Amino acid sequence: MEVKTSLLDNMIGVGDMVLLEPLTEDSFLENLKKRFDHNEIYTYIGSVVISLNPYRSLPIYTPDKVEEYRNRNFYELSPHIYALADEAYRSLRDQDKDQCILITGESGAGKTEASKLVMSYVAAVCGKGQEVNKVKEQLLQSNPVLEAFGNAKTVRNDNSSRFGKYMDIEFDFKGDPLGGVISNYLLEKSRVVKQPRGERNFHIFYQLLSGASDDTLKKLKLERDFSKYNYLSLDSATVSGLDDAANFRTVRNAMQIVGFMEDEMQSVLELVAAVLKLGNIEFKPESRCNGMDESRIKDKNDLKEMCELLGIEQSVLERAFSYRTVEAKMEKVSTTLNVAQAYYARDALAKNLYSRLFSWLVTRINESIKAQAKTRHKVMGVLDIYGFEIFEDNSFEQFIINYCNEKLQQIFIELTLREEQEEYIREGIEWTNIEYFNNAVICDLIENNQNGILAMLDEECLRPGTVTDETFLDKLNTICADHQHFESRLSKNSKFLNDHSLPHNCFRIQHYAGKVLYRVEGFVDKNNDLLYRDLSQAMYKANHSLIKQLFPEGNPVKVNLKRPPTAGFQFKASVGTLMSNLQTKNPNYIRCIKPNDKKASHIFNESLVCHQARYLGLMENVRVRRAGYAFRQAYEPCLERYKMLCKNTWPHWKGPARQGVEVLMTNLQVPAEEYSYGRSKIFIRNPRTLFFLEEKRKQCLEDLATLIQKIYRGWKCRSHFLLLKKSQIVVASWYRRYAQQKKYQKIKHSTTVVQSYTRGWQARKLLRELKYQKKCEEAVTTIAAFWHGTQVRREYRKFFRANAGKKIYNFTIQRIMQKYFLGLKSKLPSMSPIDKTWPARPYSFLDGVHAELRRIFHLWRCKKYRSQFTEEKKAVYEEKLEASELFKDKKALYPSSVRQPFKGDYLEISKNPKYQKLSSAVDEKILLADVVNKINRANGKGSPRLFLLTKKNVVLADQKTGQLKANVPLTDLASVSTSSQTDGFFALKLKEGSASAIKGDFLLSSDHLIEMITKLHRISSMAADREKLNIDILDEFLVQFKQDKVCVKFIQGSPKNGNSVSCKRKNNRLLEVSVPASS
Ligand SMILES: Nc1ncnc2c1ncn2[C@@H]1O[C@H](COP(=O)(O)OP(=O)(O)OP(=O)(O)O)[C@@H](O)[C@H]1O
Ligand SMILES: [Mg+2]
Repeated sequence: MEVKTSLLDNMIGVGDMVLLEPLTEDSFLENLKKRFDHNEIYTYIGSVVISLNPYRSLPIYTPDKVEEYRNRNFYELSPHIYALADEAYRSLRDQDKDQCILITGESGAGKTEASKLVMSYVAAVCGKGQEVNKVKEQLLQSNPVLEAFGNAKTVRNDNSSRFGKYMDIEFDFKGDPLGGVISNYLLEKSRVVKQPRGERNFHIFYQLLSGASDDTLKKLKLERDFSKYNYLSLDSATVSGLDDAANFRTVRNAMQIVGFMEDEMQSVLELVAAVLKLGNIEFKPESRCNGMDESRIKDKNDLKEMCELLGIEQSVLERAFSYRTVEAKMEKVSTTLNVAQAYYARDALAKNLYSRLFSWLVTRINESIKAQAKTRHKVMGVLDIYGFEIFEDNSFEQFIINYCNEKLQQIFIELTLREEQEEYIREGIEWTNIEYFNNAVICDLIENNQNGILAMLDEECLRPGTVTDETFLDKLNTICADHQHFESRLSKNSKFLNDHSLPHNCFRIQHYAGKVLYRVEGFVDKNNDLLYRDLSQAMYKANHSLIKQLFPEGNPVKVNLKRPPTAGFQFKASVGTLMSNLQTKNPNYIRCIKPNDKKASHIFNESLVCHQARYLGLMENVRVRRAGYAFRQAYEPCLERYKMLCKNTWPHWKGPARQGVEVLMTNLQVPAEEYSYGRSKIFIRNPRTLFFLEEKRKQCLEDLATLIQKIYRGWKCRSHFLLLKKSQIVVASWYRRYAQQKKYQKIKHSTTVVQSYTRGWQARKLLRELKYQKKCEEAVTTIAAFWHGTQVRREYRKFFRANAGKKIYNFTIQRIMQKYFLGLKSKLPSMSPIDKTWPARPYSFLDGVHAELRRIFHLWRCKKYRSQFTEEKKAVYEEKLEASELFKDKKALYPSSVRQPFKGDYLEISKNPKYQKLSSAVDEKILLADVVNKINRANGKGSPRLFLLTKKNVVLADQKTGQLKANVPLTDLASVSTSSQTDGFFALKLKEGSASAIKGDFLLSSDHLIEMITKLHRISSMAADREKLNIDILDEFLVQFKQDKVCVKFIQGSPKNGNSVSCKRKNNRLLEVSVPASS
């Protein structure tokens, strides 16, 4: 939390003289002394700062201190010059009031230092930034340059300002510096050619000789030795604590920062060197024939060097030092100069050169630091003018300087004492008048247009006839004799007749700050400030750009015979302008006091301080402050400033401003004795009340700022939100549009697709219909065409050649076929089914037909052949067919049997009486009756037996007797075995277990084997109740004789055995039948 302090905290003595109790001169001085002894060099009288020169550096100007005083109320902290600077800066920035800082005090009291402190403080607290910093730097760096050229060591001050300076610093609405304007007032140029004892010429001469490099000095044709130059006083050439060499570097650096070009700096130094050289030019008298002395230059070397430096023709300057041309009414009179005049001319030239150089420097700096922006500026003026001076020997310069100080005192009195008191009366505030000394009378003595000293001096200067300083003094003595502040020995005022402290050639003025004795010598000359035209013309002719600029009146084309305004007149005018300028601004006073004459720290010379306090009217100042009110303000601005402190007046007060202020004060419960209501202003007695109001306002402003911030933030958020919303709507609408567009496009696309499909479908349907129609038409057309064609062809066929081929072909084919069939009919083979002949085919294309016809013919022939058969024959053939099925290609005997008809009954038993009995025994029809050989197992020999076959039985009987040997039912027959060869052997195999099987199988041999077996097979297959009889055709088979089984094996008989079949018993088990090989 910020610690609230006040100037009352830890106070040494009293920080504000207004609070001093009791208020006497002694207590006043005691308080100052006490504070001075405790290094408290600043004390307030209300808002006026009294500054005592400490003559040593104090640790109270650090950046921390700057921060401490920044944005703090004037009375909040212990008195400081920073508090005043801060107050001035803030009221400039926040209340839009132009300010001026008026720094007054004697020479050496610390005005220049104070002005620098104010500037550095403002520079530290105002805005920052590249451009702003550059401006600040240039403003600050203008000081060392001007100090080098305009300050000098005097007996009172080692760095005494020998010119008046008023600097307007311009700020923009934010309080950032924009630039500045410097005004300079009357440089004490007499110092260039002559310095009082114990004093020095301007610093730059010493700085140049000490600090410039050898090379630079050589270029400037200078030597480092001060004693070489007449214009440099030697007794205090070096000043302790002043490092001229280092300062020279600082100045060069500062010039660079301010914006001087390298060649400009060189030109400036050349001019400085030229002044030094000029001082060394000496003259000697040379008698002329007319008895007059004429000056001649003693040693032309310096003149030569100077002319080289400035690019002036030596003879021109030499002549200008010997002759003077006076032009009057178209007449030119050239007179010679004597030595004294030549010296006067020389010095005049040196002074003019230097003072014009100084003015040029100020103009050049102004060019650099002038505000670029053309906007309205707020201005803070800092006035650092030479202080009140009382030397042993005071001349025109001191007169001018002191006049200026009188004017400043006047403005102080005007604004702080008289104006204040008058205001109380004007405003109807109860007031007891306080006596103070008003120096307006002294100002009047000096500046009065009719009989003021300056006016008389001017009058004297312009008067034709012999004019000397004495005539001027005489005039003063006559006119000002009665003035209470003017003293002169020769004045009519008899009281000074015997005043020996007042020499004859002097006059004394009782300034507000003390009596000053002025020697009139030089007043007229200095006021005239004449430079012989020959010299200014010589300078104008110089081949040096800067010199040419400095002496524009030397231009022969612009010869002006009018006298230039006198120095006094110019000064009065510029001081007048300055005063009216200051009156438009809000003044802030710094009243510098010198604690001793020895430039020593820690010495507080009470009488000296008392003297200063008196003439500065500090006591009166305190008294007026104490009796009066610390603060006043017109009702309107007051109400405007504080209306937010009361609900009734905020935000608008409808009634008169005064009533508003009254409501405000009552509402704030400010004690009634703390303020008074004037006619147009409110007067606040105590600064604390003001602070109270300010503090409240500050708090309120913070609250308001918070409120504004809140509203602003709300507004910002809302507008941001609305913007977002608006944007969202735009985005959404765009998106919706986009989406709808997409959807629409999709629908459109789909519609197009559906449409295209429908159209396609319709088109196809139509196409189909059309196609169909077309086809129909085409068909109709085709049919019609064909029909017509047919019709036509039918009608015209007979005429068509194309049909001929086919017809011929058909005819040919028909003919061929006819021929073929007729040929075939005639060539048909016999009707015998076995006739294999068939006529050859006539054409290969008839292959199929030919073969088919052959097959059909054969089938037909067979059918025909078969149709001829009787039933018996048919049966015979059926048996033959069966025989072929059974034996064809199986038994070699078969082919021979084919031709043999199956007779069946070879024996005619019924007719043979031998077999009567047998025939009767066999009651069934005998299907086959033949003689067979029954093979004997024992030897293989056959014994003939009758073999009868009926539908049911096989009967074997003796051939001779016809005795029945065996009657085997066909059902008992299992199979019949025979060989594949040409033999007639066959075995009737009986079913095992059957009744017939007891006798065993029968091995028989027959000549009609094929017929026998075929019939046997045929009967057994016709009987439905019987199994089909197996016929085994094997060359080796077993025969079951009674006891045992014998294998009957058929072998190929060798040819030697003849053609008969023989059967031999090989062993018990084998009967070998040898069969002759079939041919
Ligand atoms: N605040 C200060 N702190 C330390 N020294 C100071 C202060 N003020 C002044 N001085 C010393 O006093 C000297 C004289 O001060 P300054 O040049 O400001 O006097 P001045 O009033 O400008 O005199 P003049 O009228 O001759 O120009 C300075 O050179 C410096 O040494
Ligand atoms: Mg000064």
